[in-house]
Amino acid sequence: MNVGVVGVGYVGLVVGACFAEMGHHVICLDIDQHKISLLKSGQVPIYEPGLYEMIKRNSENGRLSFTTDLKEMLDFSLFVFIAVGTPPNEDGSADLSHVLQVAKEIGQNINRYTIIVDKSTVPVGTAQKVKNVIKEELTNRGLNQIEIDVVSNPEFLREGAAIEDFMHPSRIVVGTDHPRIAALMKELYRPLTDQGYPLLQMSIFSAELTKYATNAMLATRISFINEIAVICEATGADIEEVKLGLGSDTRVGMAFLNAGLGYGGSCFPKDVKALIQTGKEYRVELQIVKAVDQVNSQQKQKLLNKVLQFFGEDLHEKVIAIWGLAFKPETDDIREAPAIETIKELRRHGATIHAHDPAAIENTRVLLGNNGIYYFDDLYEAIKNSDALLLITEWKMYQEADLSIVKKRMKYPVLFDGRNQFDPIAMQKAGFVYYSIGRKKVQ
Ligand code: UDX
Repeated sequence: MNVGVVGVGYVGLVVGACFAEMGHHVICLDIDQHKISLLKSGQVPIYEPGLYEMIKRNSENGRLSFTTDLKEMLDFSLFVFIAVGTPPNEDGSADLSHVLQVAKEIGQNINRYTIIVDKSTVPVGTAQKVKNVIKEELTNRGLNQIEIDVVSNPEFLREGAAIEDFMHPSRIVVGTDHPRIAALMKELYRPLTDQGYPLLQMSIFSAELTKYATNAMLATRISFINEIAVICEATGADIEEVKLGLGSDTRVGMAFLNAGLGYGGSCFPKDVKALIQTGKEYRVELQIVKAVDQVNSQQKQKLLNKVLQFFGEDLHEKVIAIWGLAFKPETDDIREAPAIETIKELRRHGATIHAHDPAAIENTRVLLGNNGIYYFDDLYEAIKNSDALLLITEWKMYQEADLSIVKKRMKYPVLFDGRNQFDPIAMQKAGFVYYSIGRKKVQ
């Protein structure tokens, strides 16, 4: 089947490459000439495990190509996936201007029946808006007879595991009210459904909401466990033990119960806020979701608060080493990363920062600059003469670090662990003052 994808960002590229891998013919389009030129010359503008090889393989076998020519893409495609960004507006709602601009241009250029698929994360009601915009443009062109359909088909891709998630989905959600369109979407996904991956057909509104409900549910689990971590610290219980006890109930399960510094990244914070805004629009107060958001904001300050309690407010004479800048391991993404807020606050209190991350240094340097922040490629170099070490992202290399070297290099061996990567008793034996999340401080 012929597929067009609008937007060669993170989602669009993964979707385009994976459909080609499944045997479809795909054209990916973007208005960014530079990105398209890069892709045409065999380079991939983002890093995602397996993506480069998949794009190369399918470009070479002729199933995947790239263009900036919308007409070419529309003439070719039965399905057109919209995979452009929906960044947050100031009030937290999703900014639909890119999606609706794409819809407008589709309406201005389309010449035959097409199925438009919303892949971007968009609030309930967006498919109808997209349809209205396209129809309006067709009317302006005197082409009312051209039919289009709009389908909601949200993605559930994790950064760092996006190809794995696309090719082995827990479910494929398809929102359409027409059985004929559902049949075509099923045909499109047949290489996956044939392997047993379920496709859930539902109404467009339900599909649109499913994406937000999923992310809000996962975010709720994180804020919930982080709140339990607070009561653990207050009472002397241990969050790791409680997590084991709680998650072992098969009705609860272990996933997304790691206490830490809260959720970051490009999806959870944005989608939780957008869902709250959708609630407002429909005069529904989403009390739990609001609390999830609030708990998460507080959670990001947790390590900073512990540092200030330990040293006092004035950190001018202190060198603070930071291990981990990315919002999670295996990515260079620092959007909504707890490390960024923590560093800004530490700087406000006068601290000098020694930062290490195996992937996210360049992005952080661009965002925060060099003033009072020194960046290190070597994790042991970063802690030389430091007064404290903060572990913020749980890269495996930190857990595997040689603690005797760490202790020797630091001016004073105090470790604030935002991801509970070490055993408190072992840390005590190794001679550290060790603070973590939701566990007793051991000295
Ligand atoms: C998420 C969803 O998993 C994905 O389905 C959706 O399409 C996009 O958002 P992603 O943001 O890439 O993916 O990362 P994920 O691995 O889900 O982690 C999200 C955040 O939650 C990270 O900041 C992570 O550190 C945090 N987290 C996760 C916890 O704090 N505790 C946990 O137990 C799990």
